[in-house]
Amino acid sequence: MTPNSLTKDLTLPLIAAPMFLVSNPELVIAACENGVIGAFPALNRRTTEGLDEWLTQIETALQKAKTENQQAKIAPYAVNLIVNAANPRLQADLEICVKHKVPVIITSLGLREEIIGAIHAYGGLVLHDIATVYHARKAADAGVDGLIAVAAGAGGHAGTLNPFAFIGEIREFYDGLLILAGGLSHGKDILAAQIMGADLAYMGTRFIAATESAADPAYKQMVCDSTSAEIVYTPAISGVPGNFMAKSLTQAGFDLNELEKAEPDAKKLKLLHEEAKAWKTIWSAGQGVGAIHETLSTKDLVRRLINEYETARLKHKIK
Ligand SMILES: Cc1cc2nc3c(=O)[nH]c(=O)nc-3n(C[C@H](O)[C@H](O)[C@H](O)COP(=O)(O)O)c2cc1C
Repeated sequence: MTPNSLTKDLTLPLIAAPMFLVSNPELVIAACENGVIGAFPALNRRTTEGLDEWLTQIETALQKAKTENQQAKIAPYAVNLIVNAANPRLQADLEICVKHKVPVIITSLGLREEIIGAIHAYGGLVLHDIATVYHARKAADAGVDGLIAVAAGAGGHAGTLNPFAFIGEIREFYDGLLILAGGLSHGKDILAAQIMGADLAYMGTRFIAATESAADPAYKQMVCDSTSAEIVYTPAISGVPGNFMAKSLTQAGFDLNELEKAEPDAKKLKLLHEEAKAWKTIWSAGQGVGAIHETLSTKDLVRRLINEYETARLKHKIK
């Protein structure tokens, strides 16, 4: 696959972003069947053997969808690998991804040339998640197939850069596949990302409230009820800063005033099992929550996003 061919089976230039404890095979399959790249973190399945089963489940479902409707646009799927020392499963999970020839691998938190080489060897694509221009340059030099610019306001471990500044600066030196993340919730946001210079949009928070996601129903409801004023950017949960919903922080007993004083400390990046415990009750979401008001099936959500995207294109006379 080439970065250009990645978009040929898409109904929208969109990736449903990987989310710890939230993305599952049902969400990935529904996204891909509706022409949007579906992604999940390998660690969402507790074991490497389980990951193997999930990949078989996803591939079987997508193959069936392709056979049953040969005209339909069925998007490729993606697996997210956390590339850092806190992930003891990295090598084993990578081998399973290579075995399945996963079409797209999204690497985050670290960059390793041998991983890029292993994916390229079978024709897969590597998209790398970055939150600074420095890391964008390093990833481009290392030969990844696309950059995911995680701007301020994103769910999870968000960046701090303004998206206009971030995309503009990356485009000064990089003309490859560029994906924008952070607070995108509406179909017109996808068009705006393209006008800014990105090729694709990356939406996480918008898909938490999808019917198929693994998020607790109360988590989905909190996403629908929250506004950007209730998103707290703090390093207190993971050691590195991330965005979390204020209501879930207070429910878990945190004092929001105290949280403001917490200092980032990457050395304190929690061990994965501790992190998993925290993220089960302290719910991450990005600033785009204010535009999300209801839980929808992925099919209806994608339909709505396409409609909003096309309406914006017509309104602004963009071909
Ligand atoms: C609950 C949650 C969990 C996340 N977990 C991961 C993860 O495991 N790996 C990763 O690369 N990004 C993770 N992210 C970040 C998303 O992949 C994506 O960058 C982000 O959601 C985009 O911003 P948005 O939420 O404003 O759309 C997570 C985001 C959320 C909301």
